Amino acid sequence: MSENKVAYITGGTKGIGFGIAKILLENGISVAFSGRKGEDVMKAEKELQQYSDKVLGVVSDVRNLQSEEEAIKSVINTFGRLDFVIANAGLGIFKPVDELSAEEWNDMIETNLTGVFYTLKASVEELKKTEGYYITISSLAGANFFENGTGYNASKFGVVGFTQAAMIDLRKYNIKATVIMPGSVATHFNGNVPSEKDSWKIQPEDMGNLVLDILKMNPRVLPSKIEFRASKPS
Ligand SMILES: NC(=O)c1ccc[n+]([C@@H]2O[C@H](COP(=O)([O-])OP(=O)(O)OC[C@H]3O[C@@H](n4cnc5c(N)ncnc54)[C@H](OP(=O)(O)O)[C@@H]3O)[C@@H](O)[C@H]2O)c1
Repeated sequence: MSENKVAYITGGTKGIGFGIAKILLENGISVAFSGRKGEDVMKAEKELQQYSDKVLGVVSDVRNLQSEEEAIKSVINTFGRLDFVIANAGLGIFKPVDELSAEEWNDMIETNLTGVFYTLKASVEELKKTEGYYITISSLAGANFFENGTGYNASKFGVVGFTQAAMIDLRKYNIKATVIMPGSVATHFNGNVPSEKDSWKIQPEDMGNLVLDILKMNPRVLPSKIEFRASKPS
């Protein structure tokens, strides 16, 4: 499956995106990943080179369509094709709705929701050529609302609806689409510093193995929406 295949992961400098990059690289897939800052992208690229030299870090902000188009051009210039797109970049700001600022709202919607659209918009013609795969990372917060979650819930419910509708459009071109809705993952999300206290959580590598399993599935089947949780939440 993985021979000559190429993946692009948004937000791969740390956390889930980094874990997915690591597992795909270990399994022979070429990986391009993005992040907003050159310094962080270079650092992650260096760390990922221990798993394979078929890795490319690109500086891109998913809130900017032109930036995503440039990122896809770099992927094609480097690897010649694009098979798998994982729209992962995201952030969470958790506050009561009356305290959430317009700027914080826009940051979440533009990154978590508009960003997954821009990433697909920039890559869809390449995915048509390879009959590829488009995966988004939503959250269990895309199905369950909670206190202080307005902006995050709205963005992640949006990603679920967006990906499911895109799945119906894209399968006409033999492109598959899946939305993954993880529970708690041991990452830097929301200022967390991963440590021993997070050992009960899903680990970034678990997300990588899930993505690999999805990509390996028989072409005739499509897991279009996946809830993925820790088996023993603390
Ligand atoms: N951790 C959890 O418990 C959990 C659960 C469910 C879903 N998720 C979702 O999983 C995804 C990844 O989060 P994470 O937990 O891995 O958090 P993380 O450790 O904070 O990593 C976030 C990644 O997204 C990138 N990013 C943020 N804004 C970006 C932008 N505008 N353009 C490009 N890249 C951007 C960051 O890169 P730079 O900072 O280098 O730009 C970083 O690589 C998010 O969509 C999040 O909502 C997380």
